[in-house]
Amino acid sequence: MDYRPAPDRYDRMPYRRCGRSGLLLPALSLGLWHNFGDITPFSTQRDILRKAFDLGITHFDLANNYGPPYGEAERNFGLHMDRDWHTHRHELVISTKAGHDMWPGPYGDHGSRKYLMTSLDMSLKRMHLDYVDIFYHHRPDPDTPIEETMGALDQIVRSGKALYVGISKYDPEQTRIAVKTLRQMGTPMLIHQARYNMFVRAPEEGLTDVLKEEGLGCIAFSPLCNGILTDKYLEGIPASSRAAQDPRYLKPDAITAGRIDKVRRLNEIAKRQGRTMAQMTLAWTLRDPVITSALIGASRPEQVEENVRTLQDLTMDPEDLAQIDLILKGDAL
Ligand SMILES: NC(=O)c1ccc[n+]([C@@H]2O[C@H](COP(=O)([O-])OP(=O)(O)OC[C@H]3O[C@@H](n4cnc5c(N)ncnc54)[C@H](OP(=O)(O)O)[C@@H]3O)[C@@H](O)[C@H]2O)c1
Repeated sequence: MDYRPAPDRYDRMPYRRCGRSGLLLPALSLGLWHNFGDITPFSTQRDILRKAFDLGITHFDLANNYGPPYGEAERNFGLHMDRDWHTHRHELVISTKAGHDMWPGPYGDHGSRKYLMTSLDMSLKRMHLDYVDIFYHHRPDPDTPIEETMGALDQIVRSGKALYVGISKYDPEQTRIAVKTLRQMGTPMLIHQARYNMFVRAPEEGLTDVLKEEGLGCIAFSPLCNGILTDKYLEGIPASSRAAQDPRYLKPDAITAGRIDKVRRLNEIAKRQGRTMAQMTLAWTLRDPVITSALIGASRPEQVEENVRTLQDLTMDPEDLAQIDLILKGDAL
């Protein structure tokens, strides 16, 4: 059946300014790292994407190697674009990336101009797009001169193949240098994509200060720590979970007793707040406006619904925040 987006899709989603740019991003964005390859039924993918857009999620994040196999998430997204989104392209912010292993040989990894420019052309073909909104260098490459990597990003913007560019997983110093190098070429850096959640707080140690100073937005990826920061693993590993279904990046041994004990205590605070654990986690992630958007994944449309409900009220009581800090440090009673 033809897809008709919900007419009220913009009524409830907060849109936050991405650094000092003109671009607004939804407070929650959807990533296609998992659940959009050849393991997941096409109809499930479609239902997740439709639900997201119907709830005001205008930003979909991809990368060249999301799958499995590599490229498959972009290929599937291209098919979804043709069927559902071709008349809504202007309402979407679509991103992709290159920087990790993609194809064999010396030109399918890291940060050379050869890799980034070739990879973006291939991504556009797979997604049936003329341009992406944001193109990222997916990780720092200490062996390629930063001038070469940033020169490729600069040219990608000038060619119109991406409207904006960003970086991912660069440390604070690498970020400062990359931003300055790109700015000298006349192109602003829009955004940093950083892993940030209650268990991984490294961005608080310098990175967010640099982003504030330089005027970049920050999109926090894996805010639910692959699903560990929800209530789903409290009674073991459910058969339908990522750890059971697709453990490429979430090995069951990452779900340690110590982490689950912390989630159990955090979940008590969430219950007191009248939130689910996932909702409290997302409200915590978005508590500092330097975080433009929390970049979630979802295996079912219902998860998107639950997560978007978080945005009705993002207030976090300072006492709860202090208690959460104690639990995370392992000092809570
Ligand atoms: N730049 C980078 O290097 C990088 C790296 C990783 C990710 N990313 C980006 O970040 C995106 C999100 O990463 P992620 O998938 O790890 O994010 P996440 O939000 O931490 O985890 C998503 C998973 O949590 C579970 N989940 C979501 N909502 C739930 C709810 N309400 N209740 C219970 N479980 C829930 C689902 O797993 P189940 O399958 O268990 O249901 C879902 O697939 C990626 O798609 C990608 O775009 C970027």
